[in-house]
Amino acid sequence: MNEQDTPTPGTEVAPTTGHGDAVRLDEGHVVGYGGIPDRFVNPGLPTHVPRMADLDQSAADRAEKQVATLFGISILATLLFVVLYYAIDLNETVFIPGIGTTSASNAALGVTLAFSLLGIGFGAVHWAKTLMPDVEVVEERHPLRSSDADREEVVRVLAVDGGSSQITRRPLIKYTLGGALGLFAVPLVVQVAGSLGEMPQKSLSLTWWNGGPSGPGQVPEFKPLRLMKDPENLPIKASDVTIGSVFHVMPEGLLPDPETNEGGAENLLEEKAKAAVLLMRLDPEQIQSQKEIDWGYQGIVAYSKICTHVGCPVGLYEQQTHHLLCPCHQSTFDVTQDCKVIFGPAHRPLPQLKITVDDEGYLVSAQPFREAVGPSFWERG
Ligand code: FES
Repeated sequence: MNEQDTPTPGTEVAPTTGHGDAVRLDEGHVVGYGGIPDRFVNPGLPTHVPRMADLDQSAADRAEKQVATLFGISILATLLFVVLYYAIDLNETVFIPGIGTTSASNAALGVTLAFSLLGIGFGAVHWAKTLMPDVEVVEERHPLRSSDADREEVVRVLAVDGGSSQITRRPLIKYTLGGALGLFAVPLVVQVAGSLGEMPQKSLSLTWWNGGPSGPGQVPEFKPLRLMKDPENLPIKASDVTIGSVFHVMPEGLLPDPETNEGGAENLLEEKAKAAVLLMRLDPEQIQSQKEIDWGYQGIVAYSKICTHVGCPVGLYEQQTHHLLCPCHQSTFDVTQDCKVIFGPAHRPLPQLKITVDDEGYLVSAQPFREAVGPSFWERG
C-alpha cells in the first residue's frame, strides 16, 4: 500500500491476506487479518502479491504435501541415523571424491544428520512461505511495552485464533512436524549415550591383575601373575623386598620387553594406569589389620597406586610413619591400617592386592583387586 493509496477511515479496502478477510480502516487504524489492529496505515511496503496457495486450494494442498514430505524426510533420516550408528563398524572406511578416505561411520552419520536437520528447516521455511498467513506487519518501536488492550488482544488471538497458522486445519503437517521435532533429539541422545562407555566403576573394577587385558568386553580368567618391577620388567622375589623399601610394580605380561620394546599390553597406557601397584615391606608387628596380614606375605603388602580421590598416582612413602602421600591434594593413607585415609579429601582406602609367592619364591598375585581402583566419585550420594 503506497502513501497515495492511503484509505480514509471508515472505508473497506481489498483483501491482502489471501484468506478472504477484508482489511477495514477503523478510526485511522488498519484492522488486519483476524481483527489484529495495525496502527501503521502507510507502512511503505511494496504492492502485495498474493501467493498461489492463497488463491488456489489445490496449490495450497500441494504445498501442504510438500511440507509434509520434507518433515517426512527428516523423520526417515533420523531413524536411519540410529540404525547406521549401530550398523557401521567404527573402523570401516570409505573413499569420498574430493575428501579422500574417511570414516564410513562419520560420513553416514553426518549425511543422515544433515538430512534430519535440513528436512525440518526446509519444511518450516516452505510452510511459512506458502501456507502461513501472508500478512505484512510493521512493529512499532515505541513504546516497547504493548498497551494492555494489545496484550489482551494477543492473548485472545493466541487462544482463539491459534489456528491461523493452519496447524489445526492441516493435521498432516501437525503430525509430521511433531514427529520430526520429537525425533530430532534422538541422534544426540543416542550418540551421547553410546559414546559414554561403561560406568567408570565397572571399567576400574577390572585390571590386568584379573589375568590379562581388561578393555571393554574383556573379562579375563584369573591366573596368578608375577609382580614385575617397573620399568625394568623383572620379577621380584620376596627376599628382594627389605623393610622400608618400596617398589613400583606392574603385572606380568603388561609391560613390553625393555630391550626389544616388543610384547606387552595393546592399550599400554590405559592398562598401566589401572594396574599400577606399590609394594612395601613392613615389620609384621606394626601391621594393625588381620586382613592386611592375610593378604600380604611376611609383612610384604601391595596396594593400588591410584589415589581414590581423583586418581593421581600416590607417589610418596614415608618409611618412618608408614604413610603414603598423594601429591595432588595431600591425601594421606596409613599403610599399617589397610591404607585407610588419615588426611585429605580421599574417601576410601587404597585397594589392597592379595599376594603370595610361587614355587620359585617370586611374588605373585593371589587374586585380582576386589574393588574398583582409583577415584570413587560415582559412589557419592
Ligand atoms: S588425587 Fe590424590 S588427593 Fe586428590
